[in-house]
Amino acid sequence: METKRKSSFTGSLGFVLAAAGSAVGVGNIWRFPYLAAKDGGGLFLIIYLVLVLTFGFTLLVTDVAIGRRTKTNALHAFGNINKKWTFLGYVTFLVPAIIMTYYSVIGGWILKYLSVYLIGSGTEAAGDGYFTSFITSPVSPIFFMLVFLAFTAFIVYRGVEKGIEKFARIVMPGLLLMIIGIGLFSLTLKFREADGTIRTGLQGLAVYLIPNFDGITPARFLEILLDAMSQLFFSLSVSMGIMITYGSYVDKEVNLNRSLSHIEIFDTAVAFLAGMMIIPAVYVFFGTEGMASGPSLMFVSLPKVFEAMGPMGPFLGLAFFLMVLFAALTSSVSIMETLTANCMDIFHSARKKTSLVICLIFAAASVVICLGYNIFYFELTLPNGATAQLLDLMDYISNSFLMPFISLLTCVFVGWIVGPKWICEEMEASGHPFSRKKMYVFMIKYVTPVIMAVLFLQSAGVFNMFS
Ligand code: PHE
Repeated sequence: METKRKSSFTGSLGFVLAAAGSAVGVGNIWRFPYLAAKDGGGLFLIIYLVLVLTFGFTLLVTDVAIGRRTKTNALHAFGNINKKWTFLGYVTFLVPAIIMTYYSVIGGWILKYLSVYLIGSGTEAAGDGYFTSFITSPVSPIFFMLVFLAFTAFIVYRGVEKGIEKFARIVMPGLLLMIIGIGLFSLTLKFREADGTIRTGLQGLAVYLIPNFDGITPARFLEILLDAMSQLFFSLSVSMGIMITYGSYVDKEVNLNRSLSHIEIFDTAVAFLAGMMIIPAVYVFFGTEGMASGPSLMFVSLPKVFEAMGPMGPFLGLAFFLMVLFAALTSSVSIMETLTANCMDIFHSARKKTSLVICLIFAAASVVICLGYNIFYFELTLPNGATAQLLDLMDYISNSFLMPFISLLTCVFVGWIVGPKWICEEMEASGHPFSRKKMYVFMIKYVTPVIMAVLFLQSAGVFNMFS
């Protein structure tokens, strides 16, 4: 009897769950809502949805099909197809390495809020200035970050990712239900300002859903496009080698077309609903001015929502942060696992030793990121119009700058050198039709390379030089 490769997924459900575990994380619940709010709600939402169905799908198909066809990880996959392109595999490795420096910092923030609800101080967390005083304090953010990183490293060290994937079956649907429930509650919120103006959740929903074209210039449109595209890369975990590795574990019989659509839909639904849970609440409590508050958005607004729920609030807060913590862990494990596997491959080292060294390196890097809110504080204006501290800068370098660059190269490679047929054959290898084939071919050859080149230049600030 043929023995199954240790790391191959059990059928398409195993693959979908593992990929969704990697995809659904703080990107959906923390990053998506704050970008949507910053970029004015409805317009960002529409642009994002269009991008997911076109670019997101194209990039996801490309990564997973390359992985399954070459049966190897990103480091070797490109070189396997064409020796001259080996470098691209190594470039993709940079992205998880940068993301890992700040992912645990956000994981730590979630852990902190979980502990707040655990000890019953939810009311305090709903107070103004609570989040800022937490992240600017010297020790607490570092402590929680280290605990989160230790959890992640422990799972990778033991090599038990498969075990936690089982949890994904319970946590993912649970998280989805909670987000829907809290989102519906947010719509019922109401707030009266000192001057008597009343803001309601439904007005907030309108801000989230209805595009507002006031004051949109071509430059502003490009900014929003870049934000939406960076979110797409980050959220779907594409163009960073992870989905290539996952693809290499998928059996030939799996209907990729259907599995990838499920991942795409699930990831987007969670992000959309997270926006519905957070943005109307921000609007109700802080008005339109509060929408631009950036990375703090979820941590500032949700405690207020839980507070408004009355006696049930603290329990829901606890359950919510527990599930978000879990979603964040499945993602950070996928990032650290990629780093570990790649280093084991490059240095021919053992898993335990490699994961320990990686954990130490990223602990040091993440401490520096935490200190970006006190000792190393600065305010830098990025080409997307945001004011950045260290964490945002790292996020920008990986998601807005490096990823369009990697996607550009990948699309040129697949579209023009290997040829899209190579990918299409893999998509049809299970005997199922590749339903968006025509669109895929057109996207990968013409649209994606052009848009990625434009976004890359935009992210490097080239267009800003002319304005
Ligand atoms: N996609 C994950 C999220 O949305 C983050 C992630 C990024 C995971 C990169 C793996 C690789 O939170």
